[in-house]
Amino acid sequence: MVTLGAKPGWRDRLPAGLPELSEALLLVYGRYPFTPAVLELAGKPWAVRLATLGERWQPGSFEGLGRRKVFMDAQVRAAIAAGAIQVLVLGAGFDTLCLRLGPEYPGVRFLEVDHPDTGVAKQRAVEQLGQPPNMVMLAADLSELSLSRLLADCPQWNVNAVSVVVAEGLLYYLSPDSVRQLFRELHASTAPGSRVAFSHLYDLRRYRLARAVLNIEGEPWLSASEPEDLQHYLGAGWSIVERSPDTAQRALEGLAVAMHS
Ligand SMILES: C[S@@+](CC[C@H](N)C(=O)[O-])C[C@H]1O[C@@H](n2cnc3c(N)ncnc32)[C@H](O)[C@@H]1O
Repeated sequence: MVTLGAKPGWRDRLPAGLPELSEALLLVYGRYPFTPAVLELAGKPWAVRLATLGERWQPGSFEGLGRRKVFMDAQVRAAIAAGAIQVLVLGAGFDTLCLRLGPEYPGVRFLEVDHPDTGVAKQRAVEQLGQPPNMVMLAADLSELSLSRLLADCPQWNVNAVSVVVAEGLLYYLSPDSVRQLFRELHASTAPGSRVAFSHLYDLRRYRLARAVLNIEGEPWLSASEPEDLQHYLGAGWSIVERSPDTAQRALEGLAVAMHS
């Protein structure tokens, strides 16, 4: 995001404040490789050129991430305008949506859930930066823990409220069964009319090199879905209300919205 913010035209396309806040978050996190020197280099023109070249090898790895951020930001704002009073970001990582939108929508509750490996480190960084009073962060492994129980036990989450959930860059780390289980749990934790904005891989057989690298790093991709199969991918109780157009020149990920029906 820091590098994309330096690419001509992108600073204005990205949600306001996103590259700056991403950089600030990584600076207070402070662990290698996110040193001030490296983050300064990340904004240089040659870093932009390198990332642009990288996207030729791995479609969706640079500007595709920007399009994903723009999509999620717009979907959350649209859901709030349509009546959602709570936002849940699953597998939040170092995403800044709750940090940016929390102060803008003081009447809306923002909740992040992430794997303890990432969530605990981010919690410390967010505390240093200033956590909005309407933002809550929980650490949980979604492949092992019941999300509906976690949310039912969370005083800040109302399982009967219209909500918007973001699952960005997450579903492909879960098996097909875990994805369906996750959507069952979300169904039990939100009111009808709630929405889930999510990204999904199209086809697990593509991107063999990227998959090999992720396997070595211990983060294998486990599930994918073609746009026309999304209903089956999520399971019963959800209707697909929006999905990225099927173009010949595909990005790495599809973007879609499901509604609690
Ligand atoms: C590729 S990152 C995406 C981060 C963020 N959503 C974004 O798009 O900027 C994947 C995130 O999913 C989280 N994740 C992966 N498996 C998970 C699991 N089983 N339970 C909870 N979080 C998980 C990781 O901790 C990481 O933060």
